[in-house]
Amino acid sequence: MDMSRRAKCTIVALTIVVCLLLPHPCASDGDQLAVGEKLSAGQPLVSDGGAFALGFFSPDSARPARQYLGIWYNSIPGPRTVVWVANREAPATDPTLALSNDSSTLVLSDADGRVLWASTGGIAGVNSSSPLPAVLENDGNLVLRSPNGTVVWQSFDHPTDTFVPGMKTWLNHRTHEGNRIVSWKSPGDPAPGSFSYGLDPSNSQQQLIWNGTRPYWRTPVWTGSAVTTYYLGAGTVVYTTVVDTEEEITVRFTVSEGAAPTRYVLTSSGSFQLLSWNGTASAWATLQSWPSTDCSTYGHCGAYGYCDILAAPAPAACRCLDGFEPANAAEWSAGGFGQGCRRKDQLPPCGDGGEEEGFVAMAGMKVPDRFLVEEGGNRSAEECAASCAGNCSCAAYAYANLQSSSAKGEVRRCLVWAGDLVDAMMLGAQWAATADTLYLRVPLAAASTGRKTSKIALKVAVPVLAGILLLTSIFFVWFCRFRDNKRKTESQKKLIPGSTNTSTEIGKGDHTGDLEFPSIRLADIVAATGNFSKTFMIGRGGFGKVYKATLDSGQVVAVKRLSKDSDQGAEEFKNEAILIAKLQHRNLVRLLGCCTEGAEKLLIYEYLPNKGLDTILFDNARRSVLDWPTRLGIIKGVARGLLYLHQDSRLTVIHRDLKASNVLLDAEMRPKIADFGMAKIFCDDQVNANTRRVVGTYGYIAPEYSAEGVFSVKSDVYSFGVLLLEIVSGVRISSSDGIMDFPSLIVYAWHLWSEGKADELLDPSMAGTCSQDEALLCIHVGLLCVEDDPSRRPLMSSVVSILENGSASSLSLPTPNQPAYLETMEEKKSDLDNTRNTMALTVLQGR
Ligand SMILES: *[C@@H]1O[C@H](CO)[C@@H](O)[C@H](O)[C@H]1NC(C)=O
Ligand SMILES: *[C@@H]1O[C@H](CO)[C@@H](O)[C@H](O)[C@H]1NC(C)=O
Ligand SMILES: *[C@@H]1O[C@H](CO)[C@@H](O)[C@H](O)[C@H]1NC(C)=O
Ligand SMILES: *[C@@H]1O[C@H](CO)[C@@H](O)[C@H](O)[C@H]1NC(C)=O
Ligand SMILES: *[C@@H]1O[C@H](CO)[C@@H](O)[C@H](O)[C@H]1NC(C)=O
Ligand SMILES: *[C@@H]1O[C@H](CO)[C@@H](O)[C@H](O)[C@H]1NC(C)=O
Ligand SMILES: *[C@@H]1O[C@H](CO)[C@@H](O)[C@H](O)[C@H]1NC(C)=O
Repeated sequence: MDMSRRAKCTIVALTIVVCLLLPHPCASDGDQLAVGEKLSAGQPLVSDGGAFALGFFSPDSARPARQYLGIWYNSIPGPRTVVWVANREAPATDPTLALSNDSSTLVLSDADGRVLWASTGGIAGVNSSSPLPAVLENDGNLVLRSPNGTVVWQSFDHPTDTFVPGMKTWLNHRTHEGNRIVSWKSPGDPAPGSFSYGLDPSNSQQQLIWNGTRPYWRTPVWTGSAVTTYYLGAGTVVYTTVVDTEEEITVRFTVSEGAAPTRYVLTSSGSFQLLSWNGTASAWATLQSWPSTDCSTYGHCGAYGYCDILAAPAPAACRCLDGFEPANAAEWSAGGFGQGCRRKDQLPPCGDGGEEEGFVAMAGMKVPDRFLVEEGGNRSAEECAASCAGNCSCAAYAYANLQSSSAKGEVRRCLVWAGDLVDAMMLGAQWAATADTLYLRVPLAAASTGRKTSKIALKVAVPVLAGILLLTSIFFVWFCRFRDNKRKTESQKKLIPGSTNTSTEIGKGDHTGDLEFPSIRLADIVAATGNFSKTFMIGRGGFGKVYKATLDSGQVVAVKRLSKDSDQGAEEFKNEAILIAKLQHRNLVRLLGCCTEGAEKLLIYEYLPNKGLDTILFDNARRSVLDWPTRLGIIKGVARGLLYLHQDSRLTVIHRDLKASNVLLDAEMRPKIADFGMAKIFCDDQVNANTRRVVGTYGYIAPEYSAEGVFSVKSDVYSFGVLLLEIVSGVRISSSDGIMDFPSLIVYAWHLWSEGKADELLDPSMAGTCSQDEALLCIHVGLLCVEDDPSRRPLMSSVVSILENGSASSLSLPTPNQPAYLETMEEKKSDLDNTRNTMALTVLQGR
């Protein structure tokens, strides 16, 4: 201690001496540049936390005098990875950076005082009586603030060729203004190159890479999801969140906490790449790269052609849209696709041939470019089909029911095409979530031989039928593929529809796809649990009792013995269990194996020593272990786990019994959801359906589920909301303590919220560790999740997006409605009192 203090004093003294000796005003150190200070070569600013540095660099070792101001990763070794450059076009020898007197502008000048670059586009008229320094924040953002705290200018608003987490692309719907990243000219020259990337100003529904002014590659059209996720190895998740308001659309990328450095970059050769730092290999790993093949570059397959990614493992290849053939067969087969395709059969003359036309459906497509978004929005599938059929110049349409990005309800999208259809693509399963079905107008002559066409008179039924067919066939293909999964090669496995985003897709070395799923002998379990003796029992739930067992290998596991009311056969049970075991996520408890013998059905899980969240959260002596950061981590973790079950897993699993005791904590207090997939195991897995058997726990069951037996992902959202309010308040939903005179925790929370006193809800035992903003945002989200009307509850994708983006997103949230349903539930409560402490209840509905 003493030594280090002395050392520090010496350094300070030395610095003062050095500064006095220098002719310039004293250069800053640390992460800030104040008015009057100068930053020059060799003394970079380092962010507080050490992740990023701001300073001068010369990318071309052959020309060291060409210096640029840039931001790079300070924390990774080896050659500098520069993520932002100021004076891209104006390199200089001996440049310095200074802050204007009112601290509103950063100015870069050379040795002769010529201004090479200045931070423009900031807010003018900053109060100059108390100027603040420029700060390099630990996320790599260089920020100028006015004394009242508003951001005057930030480097994140002016990206160069890289997106680091927190940066965004945006486009104003009205002015069509937005930002783009622009590639370097070459790896040694940061001057703007010919490639750029950003939102498409003509419709804001897709993103493009341009080569100069020509499109070079295009994303699929946005399908409305508020957040999409990539699961990388080592538990890292990359989130892309989209916020679409009246004014502008914003696409932001973030990563989960503790993730390795991750960035998107547009290289000087026009490739848009997602990279992640691999500390072991001490190198950047390229996780994805677009365009991934020649075939997928913009318009490669010509008009009415499309790129078929599904041709894999053969290379992706050009094909003609259904009803079309190569315009020049000889050239086409020689690999010249420029002339594209033409109709096999001409359409009948428009106007009188209504009965002679039909639509052919192509599913799983990235739809062509140059579409028109039908005015009036929110059309039904029938209206969309009719508007295309009724317009002679309409060649195709695509209809989508967009996933709602907020609680504002469903939004439907109708795209129509009038000109040539260019740049379509058949997408691999990896992108199933972004695919559309394209309906192409064809003559009935083609329809009679075509597989999926129909008379125009039937056109209203087409979309519905096609939808059902598509679902069925996807399921069937997937099911068949799944069956003989083991025999397939790795590259083929990537084609399993719906297997999107599991860790197997990206982490190539990760062989969870070949998961060995052990069947464990009943006799061994009987021995390890003393024939299911009470001394080994560690819990019980709606689906059976749980025992702790030590296997012969020494591994400690939790064994769930399913109650006997499942009428499923042993083979089906095992199939389901294997499916469930493939759901792997850091916030889900791992299923390790299963065992069936006779009527006995057992599931073997990993054992988590910290047990259920309820055992800590509702224990007066222990709950102070859960400070606010830990609780927020638990809330976020559960939200991510649930998002994975709902959206990103291949199964769309509804948990149906989410509650504090089904959230287990690992040694680091990270949450893992237990008991998911039980509905599947019990062969009761319709996505949004009525069920005779209401399974759940008093207080956590959504009103529509307990009253009518209707369940959906939104019933899980309700349970999540309840759990969230419990975590924030430390009050059990089934308890009447701590909620004053209110009938329930939900009503109590809502009243405090509506009176602006939501902070009174916070558990006093985490006092001092609490971030008021974060906690209030959580309560707000919780109250939206427990809305009576399921359609007003947000999807888990929105919840995760809101929690990831923090209080910045609270402005756009709707105000929660007063809970009405609880009065009626209050009456039921007394009936249910007996059962509530058995943790779960099963209500047999007389429907
Ligand atoms: C900034 O302030 C310093 C000292 O007060 C002064 O010498 C200098 O001229 C000012 N610069 C500008 C651009 O106003
Ligand atoms: C903060 O200051 C900036 C300029 O200094 C001004 O434009 C902005 O309106 C101020 N914001 C608030 C909330 O006072
Ligand atoms: C500028 O800031 C100072 C101190 O924060 C304050 O006293 C003064 O009123 C402000 N001036 C203006 C014009 O906002
Ligand atoms: C980009 O455009 C330039 C000029 O039109 C062309 O020479 C170059 O080949 C294009 N690059 C790619 C990768 O297509
Ligand atoms: C990092 O690189 C090493 C060595 O190349 C490799 O074995 C490991 O799987 C990589 N880790 C990740 C998370 O990709
Ligand atoms: C038919 O579609 C074209 C292109 O989409 C459009 O310009 C035209 O107004 C439409 N005609 C009618 C009658 O709707
Ligand atoms: C779109 O239409 C559907 C069905 O009519 C309706 O439920 C939904 O609220 C509408 N959405 C908007 C944003 O108007």
